[in-house]
Amino acid sequence: MSAEPGGVTAVAHANIALVKYWGKRDSTLILPATSSVSLTLDAFRTTTHVELLDAPAGRDEVVLDGEPLAGAALTKVLAFLHLVRSQASRTATAQAARVTSTNEVPTGAGLASSASAFAALAGAAATAYGLELGRRDLSRLARRGSGSASRSVYGGFVVWHAGDLADPAAGDLTSYAEPLPTAPELDVAMAVAVLDAGPKKIGSREAMAATVATSPYFPAWTEHTEADAAEAADAIAAGDLPRLGEIAEASAMRMHATMLAARPAVRYLAASSLAVLDAVADLRAAGVGAWATMDAGPNVKVLCEGADLDVVAAGLRGIVLPGGGAPHVLLARPGPGLRIEASAALPAGVLASGAAEEPA
Ligand code: DP6
Repeated sequence: MSAEPGGVTAVAHANIALVKYWGKRDSTLILPATSSVSLTLDAFRTTTHVELLDAPAGRDEVVLDGEPLAGAALTKVLAFLHLVRSQASRTATAQAARVTSTNEVPTGAGLASSASAFAALAGAAATAYGLELGRRDLSRLARRGSGSASRSVYGGFVVWHAGDLADPAAGDLTSYAEPLPTAPELDVAMAVAVLDAGPKKIGSREAMAATVATSPYFPAWTEHTEADAAEAADAIAAGDLPRLGEIAEASAMRMHATMLAARPAVRYLAASSLAVLDAVADLRAAGVGAWATMDAGPNVKVLCEGADLDVVAAGLRGIVLPGGGAPHVLLARPGPGLRIEASAALPAGVLASGAAEEPA
């Protein structure tokens, strides 16, 4: 694929880890301590347009949701553009880029916006700078922006391999994502109880590093997670949703237990998160297959069978939260992998539709 004069647009969707990534063994190359398993969703997407400018490489422009990006988020994107240019080998590598991105994910609310963001940026920037990468190498490149982004290169159920532990160079080549063989009858969905759409108190990158450095539970976490990833892959291949749900909920609980044991503790779960966990337990007691997972924020995502999505959503909307009111519930189903299109401009329709949001 090569860049058109008008630039390149890429669209990527968020993914939710069912077996979590929490901890790096190399923070420059973003090599994870363990493999992880995720589900890419049809909601929560990022659309990113990259065009090359007649300006030297130091003059990159980055606009997110209509506002110039600033601070640490800008630094990450500029470093990523620098990485893409260092891998490209043509005159364009001296040119700056204009990056225009639209997030249909509440940014920083624990709904994995960095996953869709860096998958889309990897696709658009690599293509704009003339890098001809296959999916596996795109996932390796996206990984360098944000680890979880490696998984959003693919749709549906995905594994991101920890890769070769021998040395960083071998790890860089072998730590990539790929789609998991999935039983055709496995029909899953996710209801997201949005409890606080505000920005996180501590970013996942910093929180992860603090957990690795200070949590005495971290070695146990890594030891069990590798086995969980393998078992989740088996459950997905066998179409065994109850087994997958059980592994997913346990992985989320173990990840939070591990970070709670850091010094100082990293705590993303709120009283409202626990209220949702109670409701999920009630759904299960009533015979509905529903399993909870939580990331670097208070929101709770509930995995269930596609046919049960409405009853699960109704259960979540019926919760009375500790502060009063009910959670806002978003619905999602498995979504597609990264899409890249060379284009003259952002197609008007691409940015129009929102996440699959439930009417109140
Ligand atoms: C809790 O991928 O955002 O969502 O690699 O430092 O950018 P960096 O971290 P990031 O971490 C995601 C952590 C998680 C679990 C997961 O998605 O596996």
